[in-house]
Amino acid sequence: MAYNNIIVEKKGKIGIIKINRPKVLNALNIETIKEITQSVGDLEQDQKLQVAIITGEGDKAFIAGADIATMAKMTPLEAKEFSELGHNMLKKIENSRLIFIAAVNGYALGGGCETFMACDIVFAGKSAKIGQPEINLGVHPGFGGTQRLPRLVGRMKAKEILLTGRNLSADEAQSVGLVNKVFEDEKLTEEVEKLANQIAGKSSIQTSFIKELVNKGIDIDLNNANALEISYFSSSFSTYDQKEGMKAFLEKRKPTFKGK
Ligand code: CAA
Repeated sequence: MAYNNIIVEKKGKIGIIKINRPKVLNALNIETIKEITQSVGDLEQDQKLQVAIITGEGDKAFIAGADIATMAKMTPLEAKEFSELGHNMLKKIENSRLIFIAAVNGYALGGGCETFMACDIVFAGKSAKIGQPEINLGVHPGFGGTQRLPRLVGRMKAKEILLTGRNLSADEAQSVGLVNKVFEDEKLTEEVEKLANQIAGKSSIQTSFIKELVNKGIDIDLNNANALEISYFSSSFSTYDQKEGMKAFLEKRKPTFKGK
């Protein structure tokens, strides 16, 4: 399908979604949110794909937030629909069988920070600036920032970030657990693709199982979460990949996983 606000590419087992509105620092308007949501579904349909990278076009921004010009004119009902649209997009990423890696290349503010928090792994360029500045606009995050941020960095740190609306450097974001790793800006794409290929070499059943177990388990009590692990673990033993992985170990060779 043709998109107006994003660029979608495929490289082997990896899908790439690039937000393409550099003139407004890749701000998310309604059409862009709908296109990202659609593209996640489209990539999922392609059984060859196992990993997806999400990044911003240009060298200045990942996503500078939800589109303020769009929001400025919204009624409460339109704001509700907009918020639901954003939540739906991020739920789609979070629930996807694909492993989402965010390559944070510049500003990741508001909806930008919220977008990468729904991803599975986040690599950032050294010059990235990260934050939830909604409070400076007289609102608060609407795409999950008040909920995912405390789950990632803890309540106190989240409140400080949300209440001040200040930007964090990439290094500070890493130090509070909001970003996995920081690279020199010019190395970011290469490092993200290296990681994507590393993950794409694993069993796709297990990459999606691990994602699902961590995401589901974190929100339920430990007993039920562990029961979930037992059930996924036992079903792993009906797969080719389990047999191949263990056989390869015993035969002292590298496994070839088939995702079945
Ligand atoms: N929405 C709409 N347009 C945006 C935008 C946004 N979030 N961020 C930047 N732009 C536009 C600017 O209006 C500007 O357009 P013009 O050239 O037409 O004037 C263009 O992008 C370039 O931006 P600046 O000239 O401001 O660039 P800068 O380098 O001086 O500053 C910046 C960069 C600090 C990121 C600044 O643009 C900025 O503060 N942007 C807004 C960040 C923000 O508040 N994000 C949160 C949005 S609210 C949200 O996301 C709510 C939610 O949870 C759903």
